[in-house]
Amino acid sequence: MNNELKHLAIIMDGNGRWAKEKGLARTKGHERGAEVIRDITEYCSNHPSIQTLTLYAFSTENWKRPKLEVDFLMRLLDKYLANELETYHKHNVRFETIGDISKFSASLQKRIELTKEATKNHTNIAQILALNYGSRDEITRAVNKVLEANLAITEENISKMLDTPYSDIDLLIRTSGEQRLSNFLLWQASYSEFYFTATYWPDFTPHELDDIIAKFYDRDRTFGGLS
Ligand code: FPP
Repeated sequence: MNNELKHLAIIMDGNGRWAKEKGLARTKGHERGAEVIRDITEYCSNHPSIQTLTLYAFSTENWKRPKLEVDFLMRLLDKYLANELETYHKHNVRFETIGDISKFSASLQKRIELTKEATKNHTNIAQILALNYGSRDEITRAVNKVLEANLAITEENISKMLDTPYSDIDLLIRTSGEQRLSNFLLWQASYSEFYFTATYWPDFTPHELDDIIAKFYDRDRTFGGLS
C-alpha cells in the first residue's frame, strides 16, 4: 500500500503504572516520560514524510488528579520547555499547542508563548502539545467562533476554527494497553489508523515507533471507498 504518514498523534499513557511497577513515585514516570518525548520528536524530525507530531500532554480531565501531581506536571512542563529549546532549534522543530492554556499560571503561559515565538519559523516538523485539551471543548469553541463570525455551520468552517490549522491524523498511537480515545482529536482522527501498544510510555522507543510505522504502511486505507 502507498500510505503517506504526515500527521502522527500519540496518547502518552502509562507513566504512573510504569513507576508503580518499579516501586517509584508516579512523578518519576512523568519525568522519564518527558525524556521519551524528546527521543520521539527527534525520530519524527528525521522521518521523510512526518510533518506534524501531536502529543496528548494534559487533558481537561487531568485537573481531577491530586493537586501535588498536577503541580508537578506544570513544573515539569515548564522545565521541559526551557530545556527543549535547544532541541527545537537543532532539529528545526516548530512548537505549537492545542487546548485552552488560559487556565495555566501566568508564568507557564509566558513560557509557552516564548517557546512558540522562538520556534515559529522552524519548518521541519511541528510538535503540537495538547495542553488542557479536550476534543469536545475544542469543537464547541470552534462552532462558537463560526457563529461569532456569522459564517455557515459547515465542515470546512468548523475545521478552520479548530485550535490549529486543520490537518487529518494519519496514525494515532496509544501506549499502555488502554484502547480508548479519551476525548483526543475526535474530529481530526475521523479517518486515522489506530495502533494500541501495551508498552508504557516511559518504555516507548523510536525503535518501536519504527515497527508501528512499518505496520501502518501495510494497512489498506480506503477512506470509505474501495481498495
Ligand atoms: C499518562 O500517564 C500521562 C499523562 C498524564 C500525560 C503525559 C505526560 C507526560 C509524558 C509527562 C511529561 C509531559 C510534558 C509535556 C513535560 P498516567 O499518569 O495516566 O499513567 P497511568 O495511567 O499508568 O496512571
